[in-house]
Formats: sequence, C-alpha cells, structure tokens
Amino acid sequence: MRLALLGCGTVGGEVVRLLHEQSADLAARIGAPIEIAGIAVRRPGRDRGDLPVDPALFTTDALGLVKRDDVDVVVEVVGGIEPARGWLVEALRAGKSVVTANKALLAEDGAALHDAAAEGGGDLYYEASVAGAIPLLRPLRESLHGDRITRVTGIVNGTTNFILSAMDATGAGFAEALEEATELGYAEADPTADVEGFDAAAKAAILASLAFHTRVGAADVHREGITEVTAADVASAKAMGCTIKLLCIAARGADAAGRETVSVRVHPAMIPRTHPLAGVGDAFNAVFVEAEAAGQLMFYGRGAGGAPTASAVLGDVVAVARNRLAGVRAASESAYADLSVRPMGEALTRYHISLDVTDRPGVLAAVAGVFARHDVSIATVRQGSAAAGTSGAGRGDDAELVIVTHVAPDAALAATVGELRGLDIVRSVTSVLRVEGGL
Ligand code: NDP
Ligand code: HSE
Repeated sequence: MRLALLGCGTVGGEVVRLLHEQSADLAARIGAPIEIAGIAVRRPGRDRGDLPVDPALFTTDALGLVKRDDVDVVVEVVGGIEPARGWLVEALRAGKSVVTANKALLAEDGAALHDAAAEGGGDLYYEASVAGAIPLLRPLRESLHGDRITRVTGIVNGTTNFILSAMDATGAGFAEALEEATELGYAEADPTADVEGFDAAAKAAILASLAFHTRVGAADVHREGITEVTAADVASAKAMGCTIKLLCIAARGADAAGRETVSVRVHPAMIPRTHPLAGVGDAFNAVFVEAEAAGQLMFYGRGAGGAPTASAVLGDVVAVARNRLAGVRAASESAYADLSVRPMGEALTRYHISLDVTDRPGVLAAVAGVFARHDVSIATVRQGSAAAGTSGAGRGDDAELVIVTHVAPDAALAATVGELRGLDIVRSVTSVLRVEGGL
C-alpha cells in the first residue's frame, strides 16, 4: 500500500511517526506493508526535528503527488478549502482512497468529495475531522445504521471548552480565560474559528449529515460563539445549578405541515451540572447521542492534538487499505432522507433570562404579559435583590428577576427578550442564555 501524505504539521508529523513506529503491526492488520510514497508540504526545507522520514520524500507538488500511479491512498492533513478540495477531488476521481481530517472542507463542500468518491469507486473516510481521537463517525455511519438517531448534542471544540471550564472554575471573564488558553497553547494566535463557533459549526454539519442521512453544510448551521459569555452569565448559571458549554445540537423535528426536518445549531447554553456533558472539562470533547432503540450513548475523549488526531487518521488508513486489498469499498454516502433544515427561529429552545427591574407593584405582571403576548410559557420565576444578585427580598428600588421558560420557538423567545429590553420598568437585561438538558 502506497500512501501520499498531504501536510506534515501537527497532525501529519504524528501520522509519520505512528506509521514508522507501528509499521509491523499496521502491515499485519492491513495484510500488506504500508509505505509513504511522498509528503507534500509548503516548506520542504523546514526543520522537522527528529521525524523518522527520508527528506527526499518531501515535495511542494501536492497535485503531482496525488496523480502518481503508484499512490493508493491519499491522506490530507493540510486543512482549508483550496487547494485541498482540488487535490482530493482529483485523487477520488482517479479511484484513490482518501482519508482526511479537514472538517472545514467537508462542511463547506462535502458533496464534491462524496460525488468524486462515487465516481472513482474509492473510499472517503474522515474520522479525525470531528472530535479528534474519539471514535464517533464510524459508530454513526456503521454501528447505529440499524437505529434511528433523534438527537446529537456535543462539546466538539476543545479550545472553547477549556475557556468556559476556566470561567466556571475561577469566575474569570472571557478575555482573561482566553489569555490563559493562549498561554497554555490551547488557543491559536488567531482564535476566531474556535471562539466564534466556526470550527464547531463545521463539525455539527458533519455530525448532522451522518446522523440524519441528509446533506447538511456549514451554511445550514446556526452559529453563535462564546465571546459574549460574561462572568455574570457564568454566575447566573451557577446559581441555577448549571454550567455553560458551547454545544453543537442536531435534532430531528417537524415543520408546520408535519414533515420531518432537522435543526442544527451551535451556541453557548446552560446545562444542569447533573447532565453527562457538564463534567466534560478542560479541552476534552464529548458527544451525547440519542437513538430510538439504543437510548443514550456518550462518546468522550481528546478532540485535538497531534497524536490523538493521528490515531483517528491511522484507523481510517487501515480501514481503507484493507478495503483496497479486498477489492471492496465501504458503503457510500447515505443522504437518502434529504430532510429540510429548519431555520433557527423555528428551533425549539428554552431561555434563562435575568432582568434588573423596578421593584414596585405590577412589574411582575407587566413582565409576565410580555411572555404571554409571544406565547412563551414561563417555567420558573425567582426574585432577588438586584444589588446583591441573590435571592431574597427586593431592596426597595430594584429587584432581580430570573425567569426560565418552557420550550418555545427560538424566534418567539428572542422577540420576548427584545420587547423586555424596551420596557421602562426593565433597567437592564443582564443575562440571556439558552437552556438545554432539562432543568
Ligand atoms: P498544521 O498547520 O500544523 O500543518 C499543516 C501542514 O500543511 C504543514 O505541514 C504545511 O506545510 C502543509 N501545507 C500548508 N499549505 C500547504 C500547501 N499549499 N501545499 C502543501 N502543503 C501545505 O495543521 P494541523 O496539522 O494542525 O491540521 C491539519 C488538518 O487537521 C486541518 O484540516 C485541521 O483542521 C485538522 N485537525 C487538526 C487537529 C489538531 O489538533 N491540530 C485536530 C483535528 C483536525 P509546512 O509544514 O511546510 O508548513
Ligand atoms: N481547534 C479545534 C479545537 C481543534 O479547539 O477543538 C480540533 O478540531
């Protein structure tokens, strides 16, 4: 088996190392030795430390490498949309098998890759693209194929989970926690893709596509990052026995006509500390899958890092190499259900809203009236002192109201908050968070 490696950075370097260290075992598992035919990089002369590799293998001509007749499997760990898309489409159309960790490309234009794989007859595997080392995509696309998945809820971005966990543990604000994440090497110099939720949204699209047999792209995913999460939000969540996580949520639903739909979203949300995802700290990832027959399943582990991600890449390499030797290919993309993706406004969510209000008769009734006008049902109300931010009697002029709603369309909840902000009796809306996982 001859392998073309595109990229030799954090992940690619560990792929090289594992291929070298495990070569005898890999050969035994595959049924043939596996060799690197070439490695495409941007800077062939770069110092790569003690990487066990022949420097003559490096090239800048990724397309030329992919086209070589002696290449069976292409492993892409470069990232980005172009030129990676062009290389992989070329490889797949030529009948080569592809293993990629490129979530951005899969979420942006997975269709181009799946179509090219169908045309060429090779395999397209991408276990490492979501949640790093955690075996998750194979269970979704194989083990659970006899079941009906109803919902996938995950923490799929390690950087933001580290930041939110730090805010929860120390009471730090977002900026301070991001600084710590950067110092410790969790956050990149430009953390935008992580903290604004782009990375999690790409992973949400991949998970939803597999779980619901429907092509879901990054543009279909409602995305909110964590930059607006404040220390006050974290304190509010704590007071409710909750913690805040950046969640990716993909769920089945139905439209007004009763047709089945899916909704896919990424946003920060409060979850009870008793929820299995609440205990996922540091930079770990976890994905909670609910299926009709299997019930609740939880997948947990390291979602990033060179060696953990390379572990997932190598697992895919063994699978596609075995298939090639056996002259078979894995089941192709399953998108037969072709469900429509519901807009965020129609997604059913719950809100936790904290308000500073004037403390006088009729205020609670006026606030409740806003919820009623938008057909939003209130689940709980707690009044405390706005000054102290605690439960208890109002202090005279101001009071803090903490309201948790029942489930309602997100648009109705957002409109409720909008109207509350405009009321004279509402001095400020201090925290608005979605609530997931029961309360
Ligand atoms: P790095 O930035 O560490 O490495 C990128 C590699 O691609 C480098 O070897 C670079 O070459 C090479 N490269 C960049 N541009 C080109 C080009 N135009 N032609 C040829 N080679 C090029 O990235 P990572 O290893 O961190 O990530 C790789 C992929 O894995 C991405 O899709 C990422 O999203 C995904 N991923 C990464 C995880 C992680 O923890 N890092 C986790 C899960 C997925 P050179 O070495 O010469 O600079
Ligand atoms: N930046 C990503 C994270 C890397 O923080 O989880 C893994 O995709």
